[in-house]
Amino acid sequence: MPRLSTVAFVALPLLVLSLAYFAQSYASPLGPAPHLGSGLGLSIAFSSLVNYAQAAMQAPFGAPQEALLGTQHPKEQVDNEDSEVTINEPRPRFTRRIVAVGDIHGDLINAGRVLQMAGVVDEDGNWSGSVDVFVQTGDIIDRGDDTVELFEWMEELREQAHGMGGVMVSLLGNHEWMNAIGDWRYVYPSEIETFGSISARQKAVTTGWLGNIWASNYTTAARLPLHNLLGPPNTDYPPAEGSVYARANAGPLSHAAFSFVHGGLAPMYPNLQPFPSAINNISSSLLHKLRSRSPQPPPHPPHAYPGLPAGTTREEARLYGGDGPLWYRGWADEDESKICARVDQVLQKTGTRRMVMGHTPNLQNIVARCGGKVLIIDTGISHAYGGALSALSIEYTLEPVKGGGWKEQEVVKALYAEQEDELLVTATRELGEGDLW
Ligand SMILES: *[C@@H]1O[C@H](CO)[C@@H](O)[C@H](O)[C@H]1NC(C)=O
Ligand SMILES: *[C@@H]1O[C@H](CO)[C@@H](O)[C@H](O)[C@H]1NC(C)=O
Ligand SMILES: *[C@@H]1O[C@H](CO)[C@@H](O)[C@H](O)[C@H]1NC(C)=O
Repeated sequence: MPRLSTVAFVALPLLVLSLAYFAQSYASPLGPAPHLGSGLGLSIAFSSLVNYAQAAMQAPFGAPQEALLGTQHPKEQVDNEDSEVTINEPRPRFTRRIVAVGDIHGDLINAGRVLQMAGVVDEDGNWSGSVDVFVQTGDIIDRGDDTVELFEWMEELREQAHGMGGVMVSLLGNHEWMNAIGDWRYVYPSEIETFGSISARQKAVTTGWLGNIWASNYTTAARLPLHNLLGPPNTDYPPAEGSVYARANAGPLSHAAFSFVHGGLAPMYPNLQPFPSAINNISSSLLHKLRSRSPQPPPHPPHAYPGLPAGTTREEARLYGGDGPLWYRGWADEDESKICARVDQVLQKTGTRRMVMGHTPNLQNIVARCGGKVLIIDTGISHAYGGALSALSIEYTLEPVKGGGWKEQEVVKALYAEQEDELLVTATRELGEGDLW
């Protein structure tokens, strides 16, 4: 146990600092306060960071923020047989299970089969609690009739996930954007009836309930750290100055994250950093302009294609362009000899190890390219395509190695409802004895 002395050396002074911190919190009704002198203020920041690190090692989501607020609930979530031991271990095993699903296109039944098959929901369609994060990479709308039920279900799941310590990450696809723009070329007349009328539908997808959901709970890009130490979903890379996550994102766990967009992150796309907020800020401002059009242009067809609103910036137009994150197909369509030489530069910039996208269907299977650095998960789940019912599973573990150091593992699998699952990636790294954050 060569680490024990280090632990004691660090822990004792910290205990003293933490006590000072708590005494201060009790004394001030407003909690740990900004009015503290700079000396004590620094120690408090330091002990908060240690709490953050400890909680991040033990609990699934929310832990770092809770630690910073001083309420730490180490959660019993370790699933191996020696879990009793690992919970009390100073260096616990950390696991995270992520499931991602691509284009659903208006098919509630097939979406339900996929989410149940992948363990995201139980047989009643409720959040099961057996995955930590569910990512949907856009294109829930169009080519099917179940738009209303699908988006309502996603919001129910988001609530249920939140109540059980899980997280849902929802992306806008090019088809959600088409509807926000007034491009209804892939809208079925039978689907319009589920909204009541053309005008009721147009209101819903712009200023109404569905437009509100897109604006508040959906983004165009996502960065998902695999470990809590790197921050919650959509923590920027490079991290913002002064971010509590800056240190971990520069340490041995740096880039232990996946990116998700609907189409793809083209190497020449200019707004890759900071990722994902550069893209998501442009996305928010464009969506806001679309939703503010008054009156909304009548939908195409039969009316003319409305295009992007007056006042759209060049950056906003490029977001929705052919090499933007919603429409780009280079990672799916071009030869590996060409794309694999460019993939590392995008991963480097976005602080990620692999990138996941939908949009370009392969009806047989999930496609892994460039050694699993590029993962394309649109298998035409909707009956409009009749493709494979699939989900991507990512299992991340970080476990202490006897005598010091850590072993990190990513296992990426394609899960199928009607064919054998496929192992796509097993990547293992030894992290040595250095600090993780
Ligand atoms: C499961 O889902 C059904 C239907 O959405 C709902 O009525 C029920 O309350 C849910 N159960 C739980 C435990 O959330
Ligand atoms: C977005 O999600 C939150 C959390 O589940 C929910 O409370 C909120 O109502 C959702 N927003 C909209 C517009 O539905
Ligand atoms: C994105 O928007 C937020 C909120 O307005 C802002 O704080 C942040 O600096 C912006 N980031 C970028 C990269 O534009």
